[in-house]
Amino acid sequence: MYNDNPTINNLSNKEIDETRQGEALVLPDGAQANGKKFYIESYGCAMNFSDSEIVASILAKEGYSSSTQYKDADLILINTCSIREKAEKNVRQRLRVFDKSKDKKPGVLVGVLGCMAERLKKKFLEEEKLVDMVVGPDAYRDLPKLIKEADDGGKGVNVFLSREETYADISPVRLGSNGVNAFVSITRGCDNMCSFCVVPFTRGRERSRDPFSIIAEAQDLVNKGYREVTLLGQNVDSYKWSNPETGERVTFAKLLEMTAEVDPRLRVRFSTSHPKDLNNDVLYAIKKYHNICNYIHLPVQSGNSRILKLMNRTYDREWYLERIDKIYEVIPDCTISSDIIAGFCSETEEEHQDTLSIIEYSKYIMSYMFKYSERPGTVAAKKYADDIPEEVKARRLAEIVDLQQEMSHRSNLKDLGKTYEVLIEGDSKKSKDDFKGRNTHNKMLIFPKQEGLKPGDYVYVKVNEVNSATLIGEIVKVHESFNA
Ligand code: 5AD
Ligand code: SF4
Repeated sequence: MYNDNPTINNLSNKEIDETRQGEALVLPDGAQANGKKFYIESYGCAMNFSDSEIVASILAKEGYSSSTQYKDADLILINTCSIREKAEKNVRQRLRVFDKSKDKKPGVLVGVLGCMAERLKKKFLEEEKLVDMVVGPDAYRDLPKLIKEADDGGKGVNVFLSREETYADISPVRLGSNGVNAFVSITRGCDNMCSFCVVPFTRGRERSRDPFSIIAEAQDLVNKGYREVTLLGQNVDSYKWSNPETGERVTFAKLLEMTAEVDPRLRVRFSTSHPKDLNNDVLYAIKKYHNICNYIHLPVQSGNSRILKLMNRTYDREWYLERIDKIYEVIPDCTISSDIIAGFCSETEEEHQDTLSIIEYSKYIMSYMFKYSERPGTVAAKKYADDIPEEVKARRLAEIVDLQQEMSHRSNLKDLGKTYEVLIEGDSKKSKDDFKGRNTHNKMLIFPKQEGLKPGDYVYVKVNEVNSATLIGEIVKVHESFNA
């Protein structure tokens, strides 16, 4: 999931669901209702959506209840993304909308959270007079104090980046949840310094969360009926933790196995993998456990070695191709997806062709595809000219998108007639008579409902029809032993 372009006017229903997380909160033990409501809107990567659930938990402890309508809220929060310029523009547009709410309801506070808060810091308060609080991704524990400061007429700012904060002890409040899938964050920050990327500046140094708190969270989710977790981090493969007392080490492969052992009914996914760190132990763990999904999101960014070097990705085309070969060798039934940037600084037509050919070679089932957007403060912004004309970037992106669509369709055609184990996630968007759910490959299947089944149940679905986005099928068997 990547959500950086919803605007108030062209939000699809799905985007509204994704951005406006909110539901009735049950106050935690010991918390006293304070009669106030908060509203939170999230943009960008899954990590931001996961962070908003930490924020909700902190606010619930303070006695806040949540609202799905910003007009009803006393506290409006926007969890922001800085990854591309467009993402930031959308946030500024939303702030104008929230400001009107302030006019109508005096005393309403507006807070900016996340990457944009971190990137712009106090400057935000000067640029956007409408904002009362600016809170960076490592400062959410400080929110109650910052709210108080803002309530007292001041401005609440905390953009301190921590080397330790993992929010390990905070039990997230699941927002806008279907009760089946949940994100579990395992690392924060990023040490990679890809030259185009603002994330190392906005989210700070990489830290790994205590594995026992991760496992406890996964177990708690199973107990509450959840059936899928996605382990989240900017670069999950570099997860590392050692027990301060025993020195025992936990790698990402080990953590995957520990999570898979929690319950055979709990599917385990993870995102994002970095090609330089995705090692064979991870592949063997996927192969060993049925409930670790056969799907890897392995962003390539570019298919050309010179561009990869300029991007500071620390691998070249050959290295990436070797990883792809190894994945298909160890797990022949694995699917792969990618992130791709079109028109990075100085990219030639031949180098762009290398990106197209790597999409074809890797057989991605899906990609997140972007035009390069120069971000202030990054190495690329300092060292390289953003010299590919906008219309060339747009044309290259269109070629990438067209090829990816063809690859997705080709991959889906191969699924015709096959039967997959599917975890039911809810009603299909188009019809209440159909369920939607994904198979191990992270492909969405749509199929007619059957009496007695509900989200969280496992069924076997035979694929009868496909398009480039979805598989359409019918239930041929129910997974009796899994569906309690
Ligand atoms: N311009 C375009 N795309 C970017 N990404 C990160 N930074 C930029 C940028 N400056 C993309 C990368 C990354 C994904 C999350 O966003 O493909 O993997
Ligand atoms: Fe950005 Fe690279 Fe870190 Fe991903 S791995 S968050 S692209 S610096």
